[in-house]
Amino acid sequence: MLQRTLSIIKPDAVSRNLAGDILAMIQAAGLTVKATKMIQLTRAQAEAFYAVHKERPFYGSLCDFMTSGPVVVSALEGENAIQAYRDLMGATNPANAAEGTIRKRFALDVEKNAVHGSDAPETAAQEIPFFFSALEIVG
Ligand code: PPS
Repeated sequence: MLQRTLSIIKPDAVSRNLAGDILAMIQAAGLTVKATKMIQLTRAQAEAFYAVHKERPFYGSLCDFMTSGPVVVSALEGENAIQAYRDLMGATNPANAAEGTIRKRFALDVEKNAVHGSDAPETAAQEIPFFFSALEIVG
């Protein structure tokens, strides 16, 4: 099933100039970049994006971190892209991430974990338009 998913390369990875390496891993895994851009989230944007986690103890810290520097957001497409990208990312906590995953290679800790990927089709359907208009996504 051809799907799209939203990827965020987080500030810890962008600030270490890892965006190119991570996009190369994404493409090597067979996912296609349909749109991409570098942005700096405002506090309001980060709070809105992570609103589903607002009751979690790490919400404030996560929003601080996600606004601490630029991120690279991308719309990815491929067969079962949502699960394929989550498999490529590896476990949320890099201590538990498998060899060959982005987080095993590049994540620093459970917060500075290099990448975000949509976790379900409904989430991807909200997250992609959060960052991209239809005009910004190649067909
Ligand atoms: S969890 O922990 O099972 O809820 O994992 P997950 O649902 O993937 O986590 C949701 C997002 O919260 C981030 N996260 C954290 N940030 C800071 N501190 C701690 N302890 C922490 N635990 C989870 C995690 O990286 C997920 O961010 P995104 O951007 O969605 O990947």
